Amino acid sequence: RQEHLIDQINRSETLDQLEALRVAALGKNGSITALLKTLGGMSPEERQSQGPRINGLREAVAGAIAARKAALDAAALDARLASERLDMTLPVDTPAAGTIHPVSQVMDELAEIFADLGFAVATGPEIEDDWHNFTALNIPESHPARAMHDTFYFPDQPDGERKMLLRTHTSPVQIRTMLQQKPPIRIIAPGRTYRSDSDATHTPMFHQVEGLVIDKGITLGHLKWTLETFLKAFFERDDIVLRLRPSYFPFTEPSAEVDVGYTLEKGKRVIGGSGGGWMEVLGSGMVHPKVIAACGLDPDEWQGFAFGCGIDRLAMLKYGMDDLRAFFDGDIRWLKHYGFSA
Ligand code: PHE
Repeated sequence: RQEHLIDQINRSETLDQLEALRVAALGKNGSITALLKTLGGMSPEERQSQGPRINGLREAVAGAIAARKAALDAAALDARLASERLDMTLPVDTPAAGTIHPVSQVMDELAEIFADLGFAVATGPEIEDDWHNFTALNIPESHPARAMHDTFYFPDQPDGERKMLLRTHTSPVQIRTMLQQKPPIRIIAPGRTYRSDSDATHTPMFHQVEGLVIDKGITLGHLKWTLETFLKAFFERDDIVLRLRPSYFPFTEPSAEVDVGYTLEKGKRVIGGSGGGWMEVLGSGMVHPKVIAACGLDPDEWQGFAFGCGIDRLAMLKYGMDDLRAFFDGDIRWLKHYGFSA
């Protein structure tokens, strides 16, 4: 009987089976427990011979159970280690990383270039009022320049200066900055702008960067040097040639449209030199005295220059993209191709 029990213990395959055998032998109503109880009713002589035998049996069974338990525990651990094994040589599944949109990239480049020239970055709201977007910039109501802006107005707005609209340019940030800061002022203001216009080179939402300097004794020469320095740094070329063409903006006087020269390389326009022709890149001029006065500054004391430049267009020229609409389609393939890694 003892051999049989120990054999069963050694052949048990699970901890549950083993536990059932333990209860059957050593539990409260177990067979060995019952044998131990018989010792009480024995004569001293009988007990002397049976005692060691029965206790020896109990120890043998308990020892076999402990040994089997250790073996089953070890087997379970081995199985777990085998199933949870990590193969450190497998290739890593890299998480899909996003890219920096070319517009964001160019904005960062602009902020860096102008930071070196002492310009801070200023911002203003995309939902503007008529006064900041037009009137304070010397574009009074019924001024023909308003018609050229194809403005998105919010519905049900009262006529007049408080009428809300989507800013048509970043120039209202000039006004907000002059109202908030004391001169001297040197800022750029990159951001979204809106006009009701759409074709291969125009999207209803686009990006501009505004530049504004207000100080004493500022001249057109400062403007030209600043633009030249900026465009050389941006296009990473020393052979950048600028052409200032007299133009008209209500908020600058005099005003100049700025063209940058290009050369043709294998039929493609490359910025630098001017053998291939000229491309318009920005509008600029000396800040109109009326604008300075509208912001509560004395135009006899303070002068300055301003410029406004399409960021999307700058990105297209620098990175060779040909359709502006692709910028805002959100096509992953386009972003992967033109995007910048973080
Ligand atoms: N705001 C003008 C535009 O959107 C650009 C500009 C800015 C011109 C500053 C002169 C000075 O066309």
